[in-house]
Amino acid sequence: MAVNLKGKSFLTLMDFSPSEIRYLLDLAHDLKEYKRSGTIHQVLKGKTIVLLFEKTSTRTRCAFEVAAMEEGAGVTFLDSGSSQMGKKESMEDTAKVLGRFFDGIEYRGYDQKVVEDLAKFSGVPVWNGLTDVDHPTQILADLMTIEEHVSKPLNKVKVVFSGDIRNNMSYAWMYGCAKMGMHYVAYGPDELAAQLDQEVLAKVKEVADYTGATIEISSNPECLKGADVIYADVWASMGEEAEIPERVRLLTPYKVTKELMASTENPDCLFMHCLPSFHDFETKVAKEAMERGYDIREVTDEVFRSKNSVLFDEAENRMHTIKAVLVATIG
Ligand code: CP
Ligand code: NVA
Repeated sequence: MAVNLKGKSFLTLMDFSPSEIRYLLDLAHDLKEYKRSGTIHQVLKGKTIVLLFEKTSTRTRCAFEVAAMEEGAGVTFLDSGSSQMGKKESMEDTAKVLGRFFDGIEYRGYDQKVVEDLAKFSGVPVWNGLTDVDHPTQILADLMTIEEHVSKPLNKVKVVFSGDIRNNMSYAWMYGCAKMGMHYVAYGPDELAAQLDQEVLAKVKEVADYTGATIEISSNPECLKGADVIYADVWASMGEEAEIPERVRLLTPYKVTKELMASTENPDCLFMHCLPSFHDFETKVAKEAMERGYDIREVTDEVFRSKNSVLFDEAENRMHTIKAVLVATIG
């Protein structure tokens, strides 16, 4: 059946079929090639989109802006500090207003219900640029990057996420892997595994049973064996800074080191990370935490800069995959 995503919101990969995700990945590969070869595409001429950010961003904001501009669309950026959003105006009213102005809305913030409400009330496609429980555009970029670097189909790929297995990236990975028939391991402490949402896990299992995916949660380092990708993320996500002492205590054994990479027994195992990352003390946050006695680095600088690390391809692919989502939904 032909895939048609026109007018559809992109709130979570759980709303997309494997063939729709395949379509977006193929489109992203094509759009990257167009850019490389200097082919003008511009299917969003005359469209305008708005980007709403209640949390900070470098990659996601720039990826949306560059993707939209390269395709010919106009872009407006709003954050909570410079708009009425959330303080003087409800999300419902904001959505109804923005839906009259724009062809699509990107949202980054806290509650997943906000992106759902924006989609419900605006009447235009809404794209999830990260919430507390999901980061679907990041997974598209990650899948694209794996396809560029691993010479086997996605359904033969094993991804091990090491660290805060209850965060937005870990859930997003579960969804992506379940949909694409992959092997996903959330490798982290039992204390954090106990915090996972059982209802969500049941839904993921249903999808995995259908696609042939394997979704595991483990604190046993044996699970690293045979990984094609080791994935890391910060130990305390945006808004969780108070958790740093407890997370450092729980997650230090899950820091990605060269020994952890070697435990995969796969010399070609990729290291991936959504970024931003604490891998040295060149940031204010890592430095100040260290002064308080907390080493918050989730990966060593050595692994971060190793030949197996494909971080900056991954970052670049945010733009190509977000462009694919824009073109597919409002093009
Ligand atoms: N990976 C990612 O979403 O980065 P930003 O927070 O910079 O957007
Ligand atoms: N888990 C991280 C991802 C950042 C892209 C956060 O939410 O801060």
